[in-house]
Order: sequence, then C-alpha cells, then structure tokens
Amino acid sequence: MTPFSGRLSVALQEYFWTNKGRPINKWVRYLPIYERYFAPFRNRRIVFLEIGTGQGGSSQMWKHYFGPAADIVTIDIRPECAAFADEQVSVRTGDQSDPAFLKSIVDEFGAPDIVLDDGSHVMEHVNATFRFLYPQMMRDAIYMVEDMHTAYWPNWNGGLRKPGTFIEEMKNLVDELHGGPLNETQNVHDVPVSEISKLTRAVHFYPSIVVVEKGAFVNKEAFSIPFVEGQTIW
Ligand SMILES: C[S@@+](CC[C@H](N)C(=O)[O-])C[C@H]1O[C@@H](n2cnc3c(N)ncnc32)[C@H](O)[C@@H]1O
Repeated sequence: MTPFSGRLSVALQEYFWTNKGRPINKWVRYLPIYERYFAPFRNRRIVFLEIGTGQGGSSQMWKHYFGPAADIVTIDIRPECAAFADEQVSVRTGDQSDPAFLKSIVDEFGAPDIVLDDGSHVMEHVNATFRFLYPQMMRDAIYMVEDMHTAYWPNWNGGLRKPGTFIEEMKNLVDELHGGPLNETQNVHDVPVSEISKLTRAVHFYPSIVVVEKGAFVNKEAFSIPFVEGQTIW
C-alpha cells in the first residue's frame, strides 16, 4: 500500500486541520508518511519519543492519535517547554546530542517503540541522537527523522554528498544492508556490515524524511533456495 492510497487513515489530517489547541509545527506532506509507519502502533502500550517539544501542539496530536495506552515523551533544550507536560505526556529538558541525557530518558521510560526526531536538525545532533537511541529501541521499532532538507544546508552543517550528513550516513547504511553472506558460495564481501545494519530491516527515503525500520536480525542465508552445482543464482 502506498502512503497516498485511498485506504490510508486520515486521522492525523483531521486532527491537524481542526486543531484549535497549541500550534503544531508540521509540514502537511508529512502526515500521510506518519500514518503509513505509525498506524500499526495505535491503541497499543508503546513509548513514543519526540525530539523537539516546540509549542506543545504535536505531543497533544500524538496523544490523540496513539490512544490512551501510549506514553508520549518529548524532550527539548528549552526549559520552558516543561509547561507542555500533561496527562500521558511527559516533557524532559536536555540536549538531544547528550548521550547521558538520552540514557536518562531510556532509563526512566523504557525502550522507545518510535522515535521522531524534530529537534535542532543540525547534522551532528541528528547523528548523535540516532547513534545512541537506535540500538536502545525495541527490536521492532521505527526511527524517523524529519526536515532532512537541512542535510543539504551549510548552516545546519549539511551539503550535497558531504560526508557525515545524516542523509549520507543513511545512504551508507543502505550499502551495509547488502553486505555479508547470502549462501555457502555467494557473498557481498566488499561492503562493511556494521552493528547498526544488523539491527535494520529497511531504510526509506522521502523528500525531507528518512525512516529507519528496526527489525529482528534477518539471516539472509536462511532464505536462499537450495544450491545446485553448476546453476547460476543471482
Ligand atoms: C521544530 S521545533 C519542534 C516542533 C514540534 N515537534 C511540533 O511538531 O510542533 C524544534 C524544537 O527543537 C528544540 N531543540 C533545538 N535544539 C535542540 C537540542 N539540541 N536538543 C533538544 N531540543 C532542541 C527547539 O527548542 C524547538 O522547540
């Protein structure tokens, strides 16, 4: 199903367009992408962590969307955001690039099922947050980073094909997903396989959004068809 198919729920669209509460800072084109990845987590006991509390509107939207069993946790570097805490919504103050602060969040709330990074959008911060949080998440989880046009903007330390931007890091992860053994005889040897890639089912790119699907380790060898001597398999 594509994110724009007619079968897609419009719960977020409805909430967003009729919202009379605190401002929500989202591009409208992101809403179907959220629905595509977040829908399976609705009405379940989950930990949803948003980096960047902003004006408090998005945490209210997530609370409405995920239902009464979800823990909505949001972090922001500005202490005044603590005022946006609410029933089911926890706000903590700290820097998204500080691993000790992020560890305190995981220690307090448990492993997140979903992380949505809508914080500073500065490349070093986005990378540091991903590096720490991603391995700490549930085995089946969604890590989403938005506003990744900043990966191309110098003021956010971005740049086209500049090594170290989050987009480039994720392109490397795509390579790593193809590395390693396929069966007794076939390998992709010259591609490194990092620990992060072993935790990853897929990487999806949209304009301004990257989604990393965390999944149980996939043993690619287990899926190969029986090898017959002399037969070509590709
Ligand atoms: C785009 S706003 C968040 C909007 C909100 N998520 C929404 O959708 O309504 C970005 C937020 O990130 C916060 N921020 C900036 N740098 C940060 C950092 N290093 N660590 C944590 N939060 C940061 C800002 O204070 C700001 O409130």
